[in-house]
Amino acid sequence: MGFQIDPTFVQAAEHRPKSTISDAGSIPLIDLSPLLHHQIPSDPSDPAIADEISNLIAQIGEACKNWGFFQVVNHGVELELLERVEAVAREFFALPAEEKKKVKKREVNPMGYYDAEHTKNVRDWREVFDFTVTELETTSLRLENQWPENLPELRKACEEYLEDVKKLAYKLLELIAMSLNLPAKRLNEFFEDSISYTRLNHYNPCPSPDLVLGLGHHKDGGALTILFQDEVGGLDVKRKVDGEWVRVKPVHDSFIVNIGDVMQVWSNDKYESVEHRVSVNSEKERLSIPFFFNPAAATNVKPLEELVSEGNPPKYHEYNWGDFYKSRRNSNFQKLEKENLQI
Ligand code: SIN
Ligand code: FE2
Repeated sequence: MGFQIDPTFVQAAEHRPKSTISDAGSIPLIDLSPLLHHQIPSDPSDPAIADEISNLIAQIGEACKNWGFFQVVNHGVELELLERVEAVAREFFALPAEEKKKVKKREVNPMGYYDAEHTKNVRDWREVFDFTVTELETTSLRLENQWPENLPELRKACEEYLEDVKKLAYKLLELIAMSLNLPAKRLNEFFEDSISYTRLNHYNPCPSPDLVLGLGHHKDGGALTILFQDEVGGLDVKRKVDGEWVRVKPVHDSFIVNIGDVMQVWSNDKYESVEHRVSVNSEKERLSIPFFFNPAAATNVKPLEELVSEGNPPKYHEYNWGDFYKSRRNSNFQKLEKENLQI
């Protein structure tokens, strides 16, 4: 008998990845360079709007509608910074397990290191490190960053990264609002005191990549996700048009953007949050860095008034984002405790 994999990682047969998954016919690639020369106008009906910007907004609208996912180049985040975060993230994950566990996340504070994340009750083949934009402490929700003492460069690089990726997130939010025929800043108010956070994902090579997933199939719960991935590849997206899994081809110096559930609700299903997952391989480790652009905890999420009508009534009841976020976190931790896992 060959190598036996820990059964907590093994996916049900219908969720196991095919080894032949291809990046042909995958998500659109959008060039953000018009933003280097033009400001985003405040209103979609502005008569002076430059053709390149109208064109960009149209491309983003199409990608959100048809895919829920796209890739961007010329995004304005310095390549040097991306490379620095990537290098120091690798250094962090290469630390001995005891060092990483010193900054372990806990039920009271979901920021920090973790190696036993489960998606849909199956363990993911990965380890993560989470840090947030706004440190927050309320009676019911505490988000406080923890940084490894012996790697001060991690904190420095991560904080710079957050600043820059947040600027990109606002540009994308404004372009998406315009693509919905809303004023550019219509959605910005929901993001003051936003509980956005960034995750470093590290996927080790796996001896049985056909049985496990680095991250099980799921949809993102927030508004938008902006992901940097290294050159290895492994992110699979469920193509809307036919339900096939397609691999997102790594493009040097790019970000992957996807719609989350909150945007789906705001747009009353015009834009849908799409399933994705991560396949692993037997040879190479992989690193990815998603930024989860989430509204403020106090936000009550519901379809935007401008996007509903008599003929297109609201498809969702209002819910509070902070309560949703908290209950999902708590139920994840309770599940793990029930299974008696070391977290
Ligand atoms: C994610 O869905 O958050 C991570 C995707 C990836 O590692 O590519
Ligand atoms: Fe995701």
